Amino acid sequence: MPRFSLQNATAPFRLMRRAGELGFVARVQLPARRRQQTRGSHSHGSAKWRPVSVLDEWVAKEARPISLRQLMVFGRSLTESRLISSANYVRTELPTRISHRIRDMQQLPYVVVTNPHISEVYDLYYNAFDTFRKVKEIKTIEDNDRFCKTIRSMLKAHLTVIPKLAMGILECSGLMDLKDLDKFMNTILRSRISRRVIAEQHLALTDTFHAPWFSPGAKLSESEFIGEVFLKCMAKEVVERCGETTRDIARRAYGPDVPIPEIKIDGHLDASFPYILSHLEYIIGELLRNSVQAVVEKHQRRKDKETNPNQPPPPIEVTICESPQHVIIRISDQGGGVPHDILPYMWSFSKGPASQQLLANLGQVPKLAATMQELQVDDGHKSHNESKEGTDDFDQSYGSSLASLTSRPPNLRLGMGLPLSRVYAEYWAGSLALHSLEGYGVDAFLQISKLGNKNEQLTTRATMDA
Ligand code: COI
Repeated sequence: MPRFSLQNATAPFRLMRRAGELGFVARVQLPARRRQQTRGSHSHGSAKWRPVSVLDEWVAKEARPISLRQLMVFGRSLTESRLISSANYVRTELPTRISHRIRDMQQLPYVVVTNPHISEVYDLYYNAFDTFRKVKEIKTIEDNDRFCKTIRSMLKAHLTVIPKLAMGILECSGLMDLKDLDKFMNTILRSRISRRVIAEQHLALTDTFHAPWFSPGAKLSESEFIGEVFLKCMAKEVVERCGETTRDIARRAYGPDVPIPEIKIDGHLDASFPYILSHLEYIIGELLRNSVQAVVEKHQRRKDKETNPNQPPPPIEVTICESPQHVIIRISDQGGGVPHDILPYMWSFSKGPASQQLLANLGQVPKLAATMQELQVDDGHKSHNESKEGTDDFDQSYGSSLASLTSRPPNLRLGMGLPLSRVYAEYWAGSLALHSLEGYGVDAFLQISKLGNKNEQLTTRATMDA
């Protein structure tokens, strides 16, 4: 249950003020129309629908999804007019996408939307919406530079959105249907990834445009990155890099006497595809961390009973498989599988009964955010997991070390690594599934759509089951 605080008490009034500014009060006064407006996930374009406020006008606009290929083609031969049209796409797309999520939040039960963390996110979104919708058409490079400054400061201001949402959702776990809560989280996180992708892509193109070596119209196909898109993401290299980092951190967390499992990679070792590297590193990092942690801890328990204490733990086996459309990465461990009481909530952000336990273990909402690209933006540079009852040491040093080694932020210990990994995987039309062999181990299957021709997936699957 949300704790009572002054902030808690004033949240409804702040929300009402905001809602009034945005026409929400008008909507509350028109329940019949509201029901029409809110039927289904979004009823944009419905014949019966008529805008009644600024927000409604934006909610009525459809998002215009992009694919990795479009991002690449667009940035491949960059000119001033292309950069300006990219700016105008972002200028209209950000408030459109944010308005949809503000509307989602308005439709949450009152007790949920007034949760202090959720209402802070609402305020951040409202502010971003209001700022972006007021940006005038970008006509010159100077306009664009000013716009980029606004984007950068918004990206920074929104760094706390994920931990706030995660805390809010845990606190609201008993207050709303679990499936609806998770669906809300999936949609809001996916949308957030999408906004950060288009915003960061535009910032990266602008940086390229201003780079001393850049000449307008020059083909950039030789370079490894077009904006944020890494053209030749090698699955093997990403697994190796994330694996080394994970093992390093495990060594430090468990100490020199604890053997850390090897990570063996086989299959189609040359598989490569265009992707946003930080998205892939997030997912692979989370999966490997889960596996390493589970194997180490199971081995520790077994070692106590065995006669040969020097027996190494079983390796984690990664198989890469390339097909005409996909690259599939299977990560198999012998860490004992997922305990059956955790299984039903493995993909859940709200965690059901486990939410109270997670909350009890937490202190304050961490200041840092939740994804790698966010920290990269925060630092001004270019550009993991469900704990199976793990030790705090490993979780904590994993988070902070990865933050410095691969820009991964500290583990928030909010139980969202695995569900967030799936949001990342599905965002570019991929999938993430886990098969647990209880008592033996886990096989995780990550499927990536390798041609880059699939649009970003902005809507959530209807079912949230594993
Ligand atoms: C977010 O990070 O939540 C965003 O909406 C990003 C956007 C303000 C650029």
